[in-house]
Amino acid sequence: MRTEHAPTIQRADYRLLSYTVDTVDLHFRLDAEATEVRSRMLCLRNPEAAAGPLVLYGDALELVSLTIDGREPAPETIRRSSGVMAIEVSGDRIEVEVVTRINPTANTALSGLYRSRDGLFTQCEAEGFRRITWFPDRPDVMARFTVTLEGERAAYPVLLSNGNLIEAGSLPDGRHFARWEDPFPKPSYLFALVAAPLVALERRERTSSGREVLLQVWVEEGNLDRAGHAMDSLVHSMRWDEETFGLELDLDRYMIVVASDFNMGAMENKGLNIFNAKYVLAKPETATDFDYEGVESVVAHEYFHNWTGNRVTCRDWFQLTLKEGLTVFRDQQFSADMLAAAAGEAGAESARAVQRISNVRGLRAAQFPEDAGPMAHPIRPDSYQEINNFYTATVYEKGAEVIRMLHTLLGREGFRNGMDLYFSYHDGQAVTCDDFVECMAEANGVDLDLFMRWYGQAGTPRLRAEGRFDAADGSYTLTLSQHTPGTPGQADKQPLHIPVAVGLIGPDGKDLPLQIEGEHHAQLGTRVLELKTAEASFRFVGLPAEPVPSLLRGFSAPVILELEEDEARLAFRMAHDSDPFNRWDAAQRYMERVILAQAGEHAAGRKMVTPQAFGHAFRALLVDERLDPAYLAEVLALPSEAYLLDRMKPADPAALRAALIHLMRDLGHAMQGDFLSRYADLEVPGPYRYHPADAGRRALRNLCLRYMTAAEVGIAFELAQRQFEHAENMTERHGALQALTQSVAPGRETALAAFRTEFAGDALVLDKWLALQATAWRWSETQPSGLELVRALMQDEAFSLSNPNKVYALLGGFFRGNPGEFHRDDGAGYAFWADQVIALDARNPQVASRMARALENWQRYTPALQALIKAEMQRVAACEALSSDVREIVEKALGD
Ligand code: TRP
Ligand code: ZN
Repeated sequence: MRTEHAPTIQRADYRLLSYTVDTVDLHFRLDAEATEVRSRMLCLRNPEAAAGPLVLYGDALELVSLTIDGREPAPETIRRSSGVMAIEVSGDRIEVEVVTRINPTANTALSGLYRSRDGLFTQCEAEGFRRITWFPDRPDVMARFTVTLEGERAAYPVLLSNGNLIEAGSLPDGRHFARWEDPFPKPSYLFALVAAPLVALERRERTSSGREVLLQVWVEEGNLDRAGHAMDSLVHSMRWDEETFGLELDLDRYMIVVASDFNMGAMENKGLNIFNAKYVLAKPETATDFDYEGVESVVAHEYFHNWTGNRVTCRDWFQLTLKEGLTVFRDQQFSADMLAAAAGEAGAESARAVQRISNVRGLRAAQFPEDAGPMAHPIRPDSYQEINNFYTATVYEKGAEVIRMLHTLLGREGFRNGMDLYFSYHDGQAVTCDDFVECMAEANGVDLDLFMRWYGQAGTPRLRAEGRFDAADGSYTLTLSQHTPGTPGQADKQPLHIPVAVGLIGPDGKDLPLQIEGEHHAQLGTRVLELKTAEASFRFVGLPAEPVPSLLRGFSAPVILELEEDEARLAFRMAHDSDPFNRWDAAQRYMERVILAQAGEHAAGRKMVTPQAFGHAFRALLVDERLDPAYLAEVLALPSEAYLLDRMKPADPAALRAALIHLMRDLGHAMQGDFLSRYADLEVPGPYRYHPADAGRRALRNLCLRYMTAAEVGIAFELAQRQFEHAENMTERHGALQALTQSVAPGRETALAAFRTEFAGDALVLDKWLALQATAWRWSETQPSGLELVRALMQDEAFSLSNPNKVYALLGGFFRGNPGEFHRDDGAGYAFWADQVIALDARNPQVASRMARALENWQRYTPALQALIKAEMQRVAACEALSSDVREIVEKALGD
């Protein structure tokens, strides 16, 4: 059927390079169509490496000239194969000069140097630098960079690169230049330049040691009023890293630059972070509370990379979780601390739980399915065909869970000591995940060899728990066992080191003191058991009555807990579990059970009925005014469809959608009075401020509105309409529009049209408009199908196939966020998917690959859907000119 496989890179094949780069001096003659890049490198022979040639990587480059110590190398000394140039050289120090020409405008892949609107931007992680010049483009080559940028002053008034500005000035013919020097050696993936008409919001701050630093947020003219929150977030991040880890900003200047076309969230280039506009720009009229949170956490994430990623970097790309897992963990802790600080002491625990819940929701919706499908890989993969495909939920989110487990096992102080040791040993180095875990072990005098299995084993472990109460002696024996299902290429699994946080709840709903057999005292509250074998039992003694176990509190390990609980127990924990995370989780489990049962009824052609007991448990929470609204909004929100599909065997998206619609309508209808009164009481008075307390009220209020419009109760449409028309901030605006869109409200179309007109010039708001429609459920036969709607929206000026945010909003929203409409039984959604993946792949393989992944778990669907998906997947795979990105996905999915 088709051509060759992309070559597979193996982790075990890592070798040091014979030559590395000490200093590099780059000179860019910037031009939107033809930029000339001159690179002068001082290359040093690495005495620790085997003798060999100078190895350079290049991709999509026009080579103008290449000299070694001033001379053109003889042709017989050069070996070239796709993307690699190996040159026989001699000597310990050699000077290499390479001149290349590149076309930023033609670079639609947005990797390397590319044009976005009126500016030029770079994205070099992971292997974009080789699209700028021939270079030993690997993270273990750390060089000192000097960069001169030269271009037309009118077109590119601002010229930025990493480090410090050391010189700038005018040149003849309306041109100008700027020269930047980065004092820190860095791998090429952290190089960046920006040349664009931009303006900066500036702030001067002092670091903890008293150094003054200049902070800048660079945006397009007219957007300065949206840069403040990013700046505040940056200052909060600086303070947090100083206080929590003793880590200070090491540069005199720290810049954040906004790009409108960007494949990912943001990039941590040394001293010059480049951000997707979505994660910088925020003002009350255009950004929701959710957007504000996103800005805060992404700004923090990139800032934290300065130590975990940049000062200490990865030896090779297999170690990606070394920087990403750790940095995600750090940004999650930062966000939790910010929420806790805003909530004050009394509300801190619940505020932290809100953060934890949103992280776990993300993990279950994205990482669990990944771990159960053809792309399953350990947080440190053993092989890849295309590294861009491994910026995954596993490497990031599960990687963060692995770091969190270390934090749980070692305690806050022990973890900090390990971090201190890590920086004292490895600052300025490119290292491995083993190096990190060894520091944690050494600093704490513990053995983490068994723990290392988390780095090598793919798949979500199942944790089985069984409790047995012996009324005669008041003991409770908890037996824990673990089992990880096989994953592609890894059939056999070893037991892992799993921290299991446990509480036992008494009949009065209060936690019982815990005393394990052999211990002298009982301890109150949660305690962490360590499971290190396939099975182990823990015997708790001195219990007055049979307890209800609350296991895996705070989600202490990234596993699926298999514990048989009847509905009465779930309702009991939903009402009483003292661990707010587990209380939420009890509600989720109960909902999951109800929804999947109803979907089964629907698929079997029977009538769906919401169990009364569930309704009671739900209502008890809805009216509980002691609960923090932000927390309650999480408790009352249904589990994500992505997660439910992963739990449904076989996955039947249409039946699931029917069950969800039915449940929302039922609950909304049965509790209309309660929803209404909570809606009225939760109104936030006064002008908008981004504050977690206000945001929580708005979130719960919008959720109440959604239940009401879904159920078409009394004045719900009027309320939504009124909120839509009178809201002065985007959170309320958007919430109302969503409630109208997710219903049969007569005002739905008019509201969408009004929103479209009002925000015609605002790309980020139009993305919300696209996403709302792409993810809309079909609440009545008279509404257009999702596919019809998405096809029509592709013709709207608000959409463009070349802008990743728009693709993610509309196509991503449909493929991933709207399974009920996408997985039609006539397969038309899949044919559309294949067309779009193929079209996107020709422009931007990274974006195409993300869309392709929407169907990788095709084998979990009903047989009829599977056959339809497979045919379209094969059609994609049969394309001759597929990128390595998409090829790897479809081949792995098809099992070739
Ligand atoms: N290192 C970036 C981050 O996590 C991720 C990233 C940004 C990226 N742009 C990319 C990864 C392009 C691959 C390709 O913060
Ligand atoms: Zn990152």
